[in-house]
Amino acid sequence: IDGPFTVAIDGPAAAGKGTVSRALAERFGMAHLDTGLLYRAVAAQALAGADPVAAATSLMMAELERADLRTPEVAQEASRVAADPEVRRALVGFQRRIARQAGGAVLDGRDICTVIAPEAEVKLFVTASAERRAERRFEELRARGVETTLEEVVGDVRARDERDARRRDAPMVRAEDAEVVDTTAMTIEEAVEAASGFVERALAAR
Ligand code: CDP
Ligand code: CDP
Repeated sequence: IDGPFTVAIDGPAAAGKGTVSRALAERFGMAHLDTGLLYRAVAAQALAGADPVAAATSLMMAELERADLRTPEVAQEASRVAADPEVRRALVGFQRRIARQAGGAVLDGRDICTVIAPEAEVKLFVTASAERRAERRFEELRARGVETTLEEVVGDVRARDERDARRRDAPMVRAEDAEVVDTTAMTIEEAVEAASGFVERALAAR
């Protein structure tokens, strides 16, 4: 892909955003940024006693590769630090640079279509029923050896969705011009195909 080309993907927890984003990035040869990792990395530092705004201001790429960011505890804390406008502001510039880099980029999160890349060539809202999302996240955590129960995961997903949708700054919302991809009854392959269709059309229209 010549020049910048942004695929912006938002949606609630465990909807399939990351899975679809990685597949699109690979298929179309674009970069991928899971922006949830930025908030998770800040959260991990906050849980270790750091000031969240200071952590966000000095965040290093290597910290996104920490193995312990994908736990329910860090996810909850991520949703708390993400409600702080100063934390969000510290992370905007980096995300926008990735979004508009040459060669194209897929970014997934909560505010990509609305705040980070409203000019994106492709905007998707990837979602699924709360039950399916909690089941999938539960299976994923269990497969990774994280000790939890379905009830705990249901509670975690619901609490984060509510906090993310209700915060004042950059709430999780479907942008008016974002296409909805509802993965409730889709396999991963079907979800990737649906999303790829939107990317192919946007590339053809360039
Ligand atoms: O990034 P996000 O939290 O939105 O979701 P994900 O991590 O991509 O997907 C959550 C889990 O659901 C993963 O284990 C995926 O493999 C699974 N998944 C699925 O079973 N069917 C889909 N259509 C999409 C994702
Ligand atoms: O994978 P999952 O959807 O469960 O979570 P995530 O994408 O890793 O995001 C973790 C938390 O970070 C979310 O619950 C949001 O509070 C926050 N977040 C955000 O506020 N804005 C983004 N662009 C991405 C994540």
